[in-house]
Amino acid sequence: MTTRVSPVSPYQPQNRVQDQTSWSGLIEAYRPFLPIDATTPVVTLLEGNTPLVPAFSLSERIGRGVSVYVKYDGLNPTGSFKDRGMTMAISKAKEAGAKAVICASTGNTSASASAYAVRAGLKPFVLIPDGYLALGKLAQALLYGAEVIAIDGNFDDCLNIVKGIAQDYPVTLVNSVNPYRLEGQKTAAFEIVDRLGDAPDWLCIPVGNAGNISAYWMGFCQYHQHNKCEKLPRMMGFQAAEAAPIVQGHPVKSPNTVATAIRIGNPANWQRALAVQEASQGEFNAVSDEEILDAYRLLAREEGVFCEPASAASVAGLLKFQDQIPSNTTVVCVLTGNGLKDPQSAIDHAQSQVKAGIPSSLDEVAKAMGF
Ligand code: F0G
Repeated sequence: MTTRVSPVSPYQPQNRVQDQTSWSGLIEAYRPFLPIDATTPVVTLLEGNTPLVPAFSLSERIGRGVSVYVKYDGLNPTGSFKDRGMTMAISKAKEAGAKAVICASTGNTSASASAYAVRAGLKPFVLIPDGYLALGKLAQALLYGAEVIAIDGNFDDCLNIVKGIAQDYPVTLVNSVNPYRLEGQKTAAFEIVDRLGDAPDWLCIPVGNAGNISAYWMGFCQYHQHNKCEKLPRMMGFQAAEAAPIVQGHPVKSPNTVATAIRIGNPANWQRALAVQEASQGEFNAVSDEEILDAYRLLAREEGVFCEPASAASVAGLLKFQDQIPSNTTVVCVLTGNGLKDPQSAIDHAQSQVKAGIPSSLDEVAKAMGF
């Protein structure tokens, strides 16, 4: 008997769903490496699997056979690396029977927590420093339906308050002090190794609360233990010069930087970060706002990659300390958030301007174009 296969229209919903499931999110992709049971409800927006983009212009600038890549984590579902941690933290919160979650945030965590919480049917609360959130991030949290509370204080004040709230009230804390966050975020290191075939020699990464640098190191070490990579990278963390408590060795009372995402004066994962520095023979260094903005513009104008200012700190650091990089090595810079998160910074710091007031005629437009 012959089996007849009926032709399936590509527009049938079933088919569409199938097409999308070739990547099922990072929990499914890396399940054996994650603290997930068969019964854990997986809350996912199909995060992860972000591109590792060769940065030709940066590689050429540095020369000496150094290959630079950017891990473009701004292409996650809510536009930042936080989704990696949030798929885990919210899945585990749901598994534990939570009804509500809370976070302090400079913006990206609040957007991500809100998206994953509503997807899981949980109520999101977010605490933010009034006036210091990039517009796109605030827009996201509001549209996802979070309860957004802005306080007259900075991120560090917000974090202290939400820690207390989570102790006293029935809400789960989903900042990076929640261990499941780092478990999810470590998968970015897996993806880099899966793509390169080994770990890079250097990993350059912006540092705020120092959760992500800790998570990456966990990921590289875990893969190393499973013989998936031969080397381990030097972990090079970069803080904004006026928000650089780890570099300075003491908390900064009033941190200040154009890179609002990393405007943090007392990182929650400080001790962990120092352990990473020591184990990887890495370094923490500061980059000025000017250096951050130069790298931000360079990424856009020469690589065609639009990230938010905080993300550009990794590239600013690479350029500043490039003389320390041995020849013929591989460097990955982590671009943590999408440029569209912060349109105001782009408009304020772009070198191009709109040529306005041009009459509506072909000749005038050609003239304005320089012909
Ligand atoms: N880059 C971006 C775009 C961020 O949003 C953050 C942190 C970092 C880098 C630093 O990562 O804290 O793990 O060292 N944003 C947090 C937030 C604080 O609330 O969105 P970290």
